[in-house]
Amino acid sequence: MRSGGYKSGFIVIMRINRELPLRFLPAGPEFLDRFLALQTEVAGPVPDHSVFHPDTPDELAAWLSVPGAAFAALYDDLLAGYTIASFPVEKSGHPGLDIGIPEAEFSSCLVIETSIVHPDFRGRGLQQRMIKDLIESWIQKGVSHVFSYCSPKNPASLKSLLRCGLGIRKTVLKFGGFERCLLHMDAKDGNR
Ligand SMILES: CC(C)(COP(=O)(O)OP(=O)(O)OC[C@H]1O[C@@H](n2cnc3c(N)ncnc32)[C@H](O)[C@@H]1OP(=O)(O)O)[C@@H](O)C(=O)NCCC(=O)NCCS
Repeated sequence: MRSGGYKSGFIVIMRINRELPLRFLPAGPEFLDRFLALQTEVAGPVPDHSVFHPDTPDELAAWLSVPGAAFAALYDDLLAGYTIASFPVEKSGHPGLDIGIPEAEFSSCLVIETSIVHPDFRGRGLQQRMIKDLIESWIQKGVSHVFSYCSPKNPASLKSLLRCGLGIRKTVLKFGGFERCLLHMDAKDGNR
């Protein structure tokens, strides 16, 4: 049995039944410890920052303080995965600068920061589903641009983001010099 409290025989059942009874729901600050635990389990003690840059507890706490900024996938009470977004307010470092969107629209931008799916639940499109739910909920609230950064060495994540309607706009250096694709979706009425 893997770590994380998974039930005996769980993996076998999962292989037979690809349609798991998963619940997708907005996640708030009460999920902070579980998100950190999953990140630690997935990234390991020495994360490869060229592929995945772990978030700090302070970053996660700040993002989770915005209601609806994260979605979680739960199997019973197990955290199968999460996706979390931020809403950049500072002009400096804003992804809109990289692709030249009007400054008046900087305040209605969503950045998908991180998605993590526990290895036992991968291959079912969970990342895609969580990102789609997140994006749709924020478009209904008036978000007009969606951004994300993704390593070109992370094909699973790139594929999910592209399937959610984002497109690769350029390559930038992030997190102290690591290559990232900057992805963007113009979510304004009529542009999707
Ligand atoms: C990235 C991640 C969230 C994706 O989880 P997931 O939702 O289970 O994604 P899937 O396994 O459904 O993969 C999505 C697609 O990429 C494909 N894929 C997966 N690994 C791949 C690889 N190494 N090369 C090419 N394609 C790959 C899958 O086959 C799938 O495509 P398909 O539906 O056509 O078969 C998960 O792998 C993860 O948690 N990784 C560690 C953390 C991370 O890197 N997060 C993203 C950066 S923030």
